[in-house]
Amino acid sequence: MRVLSLCLLLAACKGEPLGAPWCGDADTGTPAITDAVTWWTDVKPIVDQKCLRCHGADAHAPLTFEIYEQVAAAQALVRDAVVDKRMPPWLAAQCCTEWFQDFGLTDAERAILVGWIDAGAPEGNMEEEGESLPPIGGVSRVDLTLTMPEPYTPSPPDGTLDENRCFLLDWPVKDEVRITGLAPRPGARDVVHHLIVAAVGEEDVPAIERRDAADDGAGFDCGGGLGEFPTAVPLGGSLLGGDYPRGIGNVVAPGSRILLQIHYSTTSDAPPADQTSLDFRLDATAVDAGSIAIANLGWMVGEGMRVPAGDPDVGFWYEFRPILFTGGKPVDLQGVTPHMHRYASRMRVLAVKPDGATECLLEIPQWDFGWEQPYWFAEPIRFDPEDQLYIECRFDNSAANQPDGGAPRDIAWGENDQDMCAAFLSFTPVAE
Ligand code: HEC
Repeated sequence: MRVLSLCLLLAACKGEPLGAPWCGDADTGTPAITDAVTWWTDVKPIVDQKCLRCHGADAHAPLTFEIYEQVAAAQALVRDAVVDKRMPPWLAAQCCTEWFQDFGLTDAERAILVGWIDAGAPEGNMEEEGESLPPIGGVSRVDLTLTMPEPYTPSPPDGTLDENRCFLLDWPVKDEVRITGLAPRPGARDVVHHLIVAAVGEEDVPAIERRDAADDGAGFDCGGGLGEFPTAVPLGGSLLGGDYPRGIGNVVAPGSRILLQIHYSTTSDAPPADQTSLDFRLDATAVDAGSIAIANLGWMVGEGMRVPAGDPDVGFWYEFRPILFTGGKPVDLQGVTPHMHRYASRMRVLAVKPDGATECLLEIPQWDFGWEQPYWFAEPIRFDPEDQLYIECRFDNSAANQPDGGAPRDIAWGENDQDMCAAFLSFTPVAE
C-alpha cells in the first residue's frame, strides 16, 4: 500500500509554496465570555465529553477529572493547557475541515473553561446540571484483544527520559478480515506516552524478527517509527482509539503481524513494567480503504530536505497528481495521518483544483510529536482525477526547539534524530 517511491516519477518540488493562507493564522486566541458559567451547568458537560476518556479514573492520563473537586484543584494547569491548546491533544485545526470524533475544544468551549476558571471556578447547582454527551473515543465492540507477549520495563538511554520500543504481536485470525476499529489499553499508564499500531505483511516479518533477536529484552529499539517496513499499513495511533467511520476497514491477510510501537516516557528511576493490550473491532467485510502516501522522494536522499542549524522556519512543499494511487478515477478521501518528528512546527495538506482553488484536508498549526494520530473527515471528501495534492511542512531548527536541549545541527530526512514530512490519506472508491 505504501508506494512512496512512485512519487519520484512525478513532478519534483519547485517554485513557490501555495499562496493560500494557513487558516489557523486567522486565529485570534481564546475569546472572552461575559456569561456566568458554573461547573454543573456548563463545564462538566465539556469535561465529560472531551477529557474523560483519557482523564477518567481508569484511563491513562495522570490527572483524573471525574468530579468538581478534581478539576477545581487542577484549575491553573487546566487553564494553561487549554489556552496553549496542548490539551485536549487534538492537533488538527477546526478551521480546515470538520472531523469525525473530534475531541478538540471549539473556541466557545475553550472560552467557557477559561472564563469559568477566571471567575474562581464556581461549582453552581447540581440541580442545574447540563446535559453531557458520552466521552468521545473507544471502540463500540471488542472482537479480539492482543497483548504484548511479555512485560517490558522501559529503560531509556542514560540521561534521557524517552524511549521508543517496538513489539511484534502474532495475528491469530486465520481468515482475511478487516479491522474496523482499534483501542489501545496501556498497561503501565504512567509510562505509556503514546503508541502507533500497524499491520505488517509476511514479507517484512523476517527483518523485524532479526531486529527483535538482536536486541535484549522484550521487543526492540525502534526510534524511527514504522517507515522502514514497506508493507506496514498504519492502523491507528491514538491512545483514545475508536471505530473507523462509515464502515471503513483495513484488510489484514492471514500471516500478517501487528507491529506495536510504544513511546515510553519515564520520570522515575524505577519505572514500572508495561504490558499493553490492543482491542480490535473486526468485520469479515467492510469498505477497504486504500492509502495515498504524500511525500517527495527527492526529500529522502542526501540534502533533499536540509534544515540548516539555527533556522527557525524552513519550509518544504510538494504538489502532485496521485493518479498512480487512484487509477485516474475519482475517490472519496476519508481521513489523513500526518507524520513528522520533533523539529517540525506545522504542516498542511490541501487538494488543489484545476482552477487553482484549494480545499483544506489537514492543517496542524502546532505540531506535537507525542500526539500523532489519524484524523478522519466528518464526511468523505470527493477527489477528482484532475485534482492535485499539496503538502507543506515547516521546521524550526532554532536553539529554542532542540528536542535534546543541545546545540542545533543541520538535519535532513531520517530517523528520530532527523525529521520527515509525510502524510497518508485514506480513500475509498466512489460507489458506482
Ligand atoms: C487523548 C487523551 C487525552 C485527552 C482527550 C485529554 N487529555 Fe489531558 N492529558 C493526557 C495525557 C496523556 C497527559 C499527560 C501529559 C502528556 O502526556 O502530555 C495529559 C495531561 C494533562 C494536563 C497536565 C499536564 C499539562 O500538559 O499541563 C492537564 C491540565 C490536562 N491534561 C487537561 C486536559 C483537559 C482539560 C482535557 C479536556 C478538555 C484533556 N486534558 C483531554 C491525555 C489527554
